[in-house]
Amino acid sequence: MAGRIPQNFIDEVVARTDIVEIIGTRIALKKAGREWKACCPFHGEKTPSFTVSQTKQFYHCFGCGAHGTALGFLIEHDRMSFVEAVEDLANRAGLEIPREGPSTPSDRDRQESDLFALMTQADQHFRECLRDSDRAKDYLKGRGLSGETAARYHLGYAPPGWDAVLKKFGATEAGRTALSDCGLIIERSGDSDKAVSNGFYDRFRDRVMFPIRDSRGRVVGFGGRVIDQGEPKYLNSPETALFHKGRELYGLYEARQELRQINQLLIVEGYMDVVRLAQAGIHYAVATLGTATTPEHLNRLFRVCSDVVFCFDGDRAGRQAAWRALETSLTHARDGRQLKFLFLPDGHDPDTLVAEEGKAAFEQRLSQAMPLSEYLVTHLAQQIDRDTVDGRAKLAELARPLVQKLPAGVYRELLIDRLASEVRMPSPRLAGLLGLNETQSGNTTTGGYTRPLAPTRSYGRGNLTSQAIARVLQNPGAARYLGPVESLRQGVEDRGLEVLLELVQCLHGEPHLSSAQLVERWRDRPEHERLSELTSMPLPELKEEAIGLELAAIIEKIRAERGPERRWSELIAKAESVGLNEAEKAELLTLQRQARATATQARH
Ligand code: CTP
Ligand code: MN
Repeated sequence: MAGRIPQNFIDEVVARTDIVEIIGTRIALKKAGREWKACCPFHGEKTPSFTVSQTKQFYHCFGCGAHGTALGFLIEHDRMSFVEAVEDLANRAGLEIPREGPSTPSDRDRQESDLFALMTQADQHFRECLRDSDRAKDYLKGRGLSGETAARYHLGYAPPGWDAVLKKFGATEAGRTALSDCGLIIERSGDSDKAVSNGFYDRFRDRVMFPIRDSRGRVVGFGGRVIDQGEPKYLNSPETALFHKGRELYGLYEARQELRQINQLLIVEGYMDVVRLAQAGIHYAVATLGTATTPEHLNRLFRVCSDVVFCFDGDRAGRQAAWRALETSLTHARDGRQLKFLFLPDGHDPDTLVAEEGKAAFEQRLSQAMPLSEYLVTHLAQQIDRDTVDGRAKLAELARPLVQKLPAGVYRELLIDRLASEVRMPSPRLAGLLGLNETQSGNTTTGGYTRPLAPTRSYGRGNLTSQAIARVLQNPGAARYLGPVESLRQGVEDRGLEVLLELVQCLHGEPHLSSAQLVERWRDRPEHERLSELTSMPLPELKEEAIGLELAAIIEKIRAERGPERRWSELIAKAESVGLNEAEKAELLTLQRQARATATQARH
């Protein structure tokens, strides 16, 4: 998208904008030292943890983790599209967006916007079909949905027949290609006897349609439910350029439209659950799309609010899914966030339950949801005999891989205390058994050997590349104390280092770029989110020159580590497959000791 507006124009817009003014006209900011503070507009709070930095031109909330540039704020807070946000700031600054010739947008951008347009038309088409079908309307009424709810969620209907969508939108070959790219039609394989035209047929037939909208409200996919009986009960769009199941959350866009402020999000399993809850007045439910909750889902959820409740059926499958969700959530559990689990009575889902007992009773259950720590402890305690030495040892064994996933902090300490009291053991002793005295946080255990997470994946504060990137982003001026990029790289290949060096290179060319301008350059790249996070990571305050020296030292260390690390991965892989001989075991232990020493140094 950003490709349509020249990057140097975006730089100019960001340079002429003051984020304090932009945010200050929307919420009341108070000066606090060098920064500005307010109660966070993205989550409910009584004491301000939302800060705006004039030097970095960046905002950050210590409570919910929201962060970004002035453009990011307009997108998240005012729900503008990227282009709208640029236009808004450009207008304020009295700048005119350069007129692009018809050839300016990249092919990918244009194709994507064509697909979005087609999805909007399909959405419109399915809604019209619902209006015309008594059978579909009766089905929805039978499930207790009002016309108003159906309209709010853009519910639709794909009529029976093999080619309704195909006929309407697929008259040309280009049209058919687009339909197929959107996942709305399927290519016939072999010579099946389905009545087809042009080798394709409609994916969704005789189904109630639930459009899935992204955070900007654009339709990216559909879920379709059979009317009455039939297999599969739900059919979803396949993965397409627009639709990624592991990322989208059904109902999040609608929730944000409905609520000025979202204090809590409830994660449920089904489309119907989200819609039925909203109709009952519970507008803060979202659903994953027939998949387990992913880390990406959790990142999105915690960007919206700091209180997340998972809701599961009370049956065995539900409990299994709950435990899986717990395992995924551990790395996201930290101070200031709440993660809870709500188990429904056997045989119920939120849809049937809220229909039966209403909003108040459902919210009453919700208020009694089980905190993650309690769920973890009781679930483990059930599996052991805490009155025996063996039982306690087993508890430590079961808890170890889980507790090690938690980021170090007050939250983890409290959880260990809670576990310790459960097995009546002093906390430090349990911490020892859990392997937390010796090994630092953020480690994974493989075949009895401990290794730090690969640096590009680790989100720990001790990670060298992240440390260096954070310093460059927050002190762009420090880059001038570094030598040419090629001399820094010295042939080392590493993804994190590449990002770092690209930033440095960028600054060598344009030394006056601000933090916000740098982050904006990455907006369309996968690292954008991570770079934004690092721009708000707390760092000690130092003079630019000192930071430059520090940076050079960090880069040196990254280079020194890369060599051994490759050997390390080889050895670990071998340990996991065929096993190691004595010499290799000794080598691995040495590498491990060295890495720990380096990690300790880096932390000081
Ligand atoms: N799901 C899916 N594909 C399936 C079955 C289920 O994607 N074949 C997803 C859908 O998002 C669905 C959710 O899992 O909404 C829950 O499915 P299920 O429990 O089977 O149905 P309900 O939501 O209870 O559906 P309904 O109330 O309409 O019977
Ligand atoms: Mn159901």
